[in-house]
Amino acid sequence: MDLDLRTQYWDDREARNAFKKFILDIHGLDFSVWESQGFWDDRYTPFSLFNGSEVISSVCVYLLDAIIQGESTRLVQISGVGTHEKWRRKGLSRQLTDEGLKWAHNKHEGVFLFADDEAIPYYQKCGFKPIEEYLEHIKIPSVLAKPGCIPLDPDNQEDLALIYSYAQSRTPISNIFSIMNAKLLMFHVLYTMKNNIYEIPDLNCLIFYKRDNNCLNIFDIVSERMPSFEQLLPYIVRDTDQTVEFHFHTDKLGIEQIETKALAGNNTFVKMGFPLTRPVFPYTSRA
Ligand SMILES: CC(C)(COP(=O)(O)OP(=O)(O)OC[C@H]1O[C@@H](n2cnc3c(N)ncnc32)[C@H](O)[C@@H]1OP(=O)(O)O)[C@@H](O)C(=O)NCCC(=O)NCCS
Repeated sequence: MDLDLRTQYWDDREARNAFKKFILDIHGLDFSVWESQGFWDDRYTPFSLFNGSEVISSVCVYLLDAIIQGESTRLVQISGVGTHEKWRRKGLSRQLTDEGLKWAHNKHEGVFLFADDEAIPYYQKCGFKPIEEYLEHIKIPSVLAKPGCIPLDPDNQEDLALIYSYAQSRTPISNIFSIMNAKLLMFHVLYTMKNNIYEIPDLNCLIFYKRDNNCLNIFDIVSERMPSFEQLLPYIVRDTDQTVEFHFHTDKLGIEQIETKALAGNNTFVKMGFPLTRPVFPYTSRA
């Protein structure tokens, strides 16, 4: 059976639907909401093998606008990787990864991905290496809580439009490492962070956070001008909170003494030459 290798086919409705079905089958992820709300990102570039009208193996190369050590650059994230069960171990996924990276050559400064546990041996065979990550955290100083942190609901079109306008004009969260694709952020708004998005109008910012027992996990702060952590904390703190964990580099938050700990479990892999050695991958950079 001849397989047809296709890329940049998002304009072909039938092919795009076949891709969406494939991602639903392989990863249980339904892209319909991201698509119907208008945030589908053309930078998310598919390399797919079609058997007739069906996608049987696919790899996506996501071109990301990044800030690294204060400089604008581009990175590639590999995602949406899979091969239908009966087609596995025939070299198809590796072929697509090679094609994708060949296409992206000269368009970026580094390649990264987050691997599912069972795919680790596959990525190692494809030449990816694990990269050490860490997490920044602090003990919460005593502060008086303030009102003014308003939950937003991405199912409400007004809230969604407000979130997108913040996303489009955001300043990088960190000068060390930030990802700037607004449409990728909107994916997290609609899927992973749906119930964790708040606006603090006094500070003109959005904050994505979640309380896990006595720990505040902050995933992102979206604003034209980054507030300091000292300004932010009163709006989100509760008496029982003890620690804060940040899922991005905190260099712009003005925190004087931050602690770090190794972060395991993300299965983050990079290709040789990745421009950072011990990064915190911003949570909302994951595709
Ligand atoms: C991981 C996956 C994409 C591999 O697809 P594939 O088309 O079978 O991969 P390939 O045939 O191109 O494999 C390339 C190499 O990796 C090896 N490999 C593939 N899967 C492997 C596995 N599970 N364990 C060990 N080695 C593996 C192959 O043997 C081959 O090595 P070789 O060149 O020495 O023969 C596929 O198993 C899959 O879809 N898994 C479920 C979804 C998933 O985990 N996706 C990744 C999410 S991050």
